[in-house]
Amino acid sequence: MGTAGRINRVREVLAAARLEHVRYAIRDIAVLAEQLACEGKPFLPLNIGDPLLFDFQTPPHLIEAVTKAMRDGKNGYAPSLGIDEALEAVRAEAERNGIRDIQGVFITQGVSEAVEVGFAALLNPGENVVTPCPEYPLYSLVLAQLGAQPNSYRLSEESGWEPDLEHLASRIFTGTRAIIVGNPNNPTGAVYSRRTLEAIAELARQHNLVIFADEIYSKLALDGEPPVSIAALAPDVPVVTMNGLSKAYMVPGWRLGWAVVSGRGVELKAYVEWMQKLLRARLSANHPEQYAVRPALEGPQDHLQEVLAKLRRRRDLTMKWCHAIPRLSCVAPRGGFYAFPQLDIPGSDEDFVKQLLIEKQILVVHGSGFCQAPGAQHIRIVFLPDEATLERAYTGIAAFMREHYS
Ligand SMILES: Cc1ncc(COP(=O)(O)O)c(C=O)c1O
Repeated sequence: MGTAGRINRVREVLAAARLEHVRYAIRDIAVLAEQLACEGKPFLPLNIGDPLLFDFQTPPHLIEAVTKAMRDGKNGYAPSLGIDEALEAVRAEAERNGIRDIQGVFITQGVSEAVEVGFAALLNPGENVVTPCPEYPLYSLVLAQLGAQPNSYRLSEESGWEPDLEHLASRIFTGTRAIIVGNPNNPTGAVYSRRTLEAIAELARQHNLVIFADEIYSKLALDGEPPVSIAALAPDVPVVTMNGLSKAYMVPGWRLGWAVVSGRGVELKAYVEWMQKLLRARLSANHPEQYAVRPALEGPQDHLQEVLAKLRRRRDLTMKWCHAIPRLSCVAPRGGFYAFPQLDIPGSDEDFVKQLLIEKQILVVHGSGFCQAPGAQHIRIVFLPDEATLERAYTGIAAFMREHYS
């Protein structure tokens, strides 16, 4: 073949079709914002749940523990499942939370990797997992990677975003392997009642399903009692309880999380072995950061009081504005740092979010990026910024509403 023939032929590298419909709205929408920032229009980021972008600090004793580990030469690969002192601290905390019959504890690169490993060790292509709608979008992304299907169950806005248990039951059919329960919930801010958790556990028991409990916001409950771990209510049901340092200990960049697998030993033996196999193959989670786990879980918790006091004030301010801004209504968040108000507007929430960004330089995420009921429109607001910044943001949103929809 002549040179000309070789030059003209374009051989496109075909990307995986199973990822065609995958979106991660939280960061996808930031691409437009960054373009605007490059044109000299800085924006207020109310899109990403990273406390370190605002006035929250990592507790110094955790930084000291990791620095010491680095100085002590803990810079090679860690044991694949995690270092002993971190595993023991996680197990002890799980037991303090009432979780019994623990069959496996693993340190992972954040809850994100715990989800990946937990799903990959369980699912065959074509099987499905019952995922909440609205949901934190990582779950569906990982399912798509595995050729498995998300199978949405409704969270009911009229009932404070509690799961619609009848709908959840109706979503269990051939090929359903697991249920995801995010508590406290992102994006809705709901904290589920014990009764709801018991009912979900009963469905899992009846249908032989694994429960994935994403409890990354468990220490950021804003009202009343701390949330109950679903694993503590159902020791006989296979539960993968996932948590980590990112949110409550203010180190999302350390990528440090864990999974605790509980339930009956004989039933979980093969599944736990497969998880271990995957964890060995990926070598290890971050090593020096694992030395922060014990000081985090067993050391001083003083920073949490300040964090919770700030979050309560900022949640209350957010709710005040949600009541005041026309065409906006919101179920009060009870955990975490997200509000998920409903918009009563014509058009799509994605267009709303883009226009708000262009005109007012305020970045929130459209509800459709999290799955939502047909016809409903929402935005997710991160209420981490200080009160003055939030006031500025909500004044901007109120003006935008008046200008476009009054
Ligand atoms: C519900 C939920 N689960 C998991 C994660 C990711 O946690 P990690 O940083 O531990 O991977 C997030 C991050 O925003 C989240 O909101």
